[in-house]
Amino acid sequence: MTMPRSIILGCGSYLPERIVTNDELAQRVDTTDEWIVERTGIRQRHIAEEGQLTSDLALAAAERAIEHAGIDVDDIDLVILATTTPDQTFPSTATKVQAALGMSNGAAFDIQAVCSGFLYGISTADAFIRSGQARTVLLIGAETFSRILDWEDRGTCVLFGDGAGAVVLQASANGADKDNDASAGHNQERGVLSTHLHSDGKLNNLLYVDGGPSSTQTVGHVRMVGREVFRHAVTNLAAVVDEALDANSLEREDITWIVPHQANKRILDSTARKLGVSPDRVVTTVDRHANTSAASIPLALDAAVKDGRIKRGDLLLLEAMGGGLTWGSALVRW
Ligand code: ACO
Repeated sequence: MTMPRSIILGCGSYLPERIVTNDELAQRVDTTDEWIVERTGIRQRHIAEEGQLTSDLALAAAERAIEHAGIDVDDIDLVILATTTPDQTFPSTATKVQAALGMSNGAAFDIQAVCSGFLYGISTADAFIRSGQARTVLLIGAETFSRILDWEDRGTCVLFGDGAGAVVLQASANGADKDNDASAGHNQERGVLSTHLHSDGKLNNLLYVDGGPSSTQTVGHVRMVGREVFRHAVTNLAAVVDEALDANSLEREDITWIVPHQANKRILDSTARKLGVSPDRVVTTVDRHANTSAASIPLALDAAVKDGRIKRGDLLLLEAMGGGLTWGSALVRW
């Protein structure tokens, strides 16, 4: 029996209307536009309005992805939502989106892997599809990260933003999809070619939130040892790119687009340099969106699909690193 392949049928995203510039932040904390742009490449971020929840952002992105995919809500049998900023400790934000979409069937759950959440989500969705447990999966990355920032800590509050992105994945038996050429090799066919996930819990003190239901009964604020995170990010991200290529007998030159987690322009540039990949092949939105954690990859993906850069048949390498530490990759033939 041939195992089905997970095809990404469509994508969508949503950003809150309110834009906060670096100059505006400089009125709140001791920083400057020049410092932020030079160290991070960030020029602005979108921030959710009071009362606008992660589930609201997620729903807007999901509706756009469903429309782009050309499917019916009733086709979806699994909703996975990657977030670090759920509406409530429980129930999962995924179940709130499921209800808002009017779904009464299927299953829904959240995934927590901070900035790597969307990749943990793709890997999970792909496993559900390959095993036959789900046929159509709505995968969302959504964050109101502004709610867990310490707005007096200039070392972290300038780095993050709010937003949501979503994709619809659907099972397609190898060779059976009309866009898949049965005679083509494994790595030429459309869909998710592989995913690789990693974590090293010994490093969880480099990037964390100083609160939680079980420890402090508060939500807490983001704390980070920036330099150490930077160092691990460049090493780990270059390694997962090679791991993904090796697993599929592909070369760095075969990658059409790297769609990275948008943490910091310097991390994107250093990783590209280490890989010998031109920065022109790296989809970059960090200047406009800042770091939206689990939402950043689907936001970048949607931007590059909708402006026509990403085309059918392109080879996409998605990669991320975040708190945990967690990191990983997904190789996708669009
Ligand atoms: N404005 C002005 N000065 C600042 C600011 C700011 N916003 N933030 C920190 N500084 C100061 C510090 O106080 C320090 O001053 P001091 O020398 O007087 O003590 C000085 O700048 C240097 O601080 P560093 O933290 O050493 O600065 P660095 O060059 O490492 O840049 C940064 C900091 C941008 C956070 C960098 O470490 C980084 O990008 N790290 C990666 C972290 C990241 O992207 N995390 C996102 C989540 S994880 C992920 O998604 C991969």
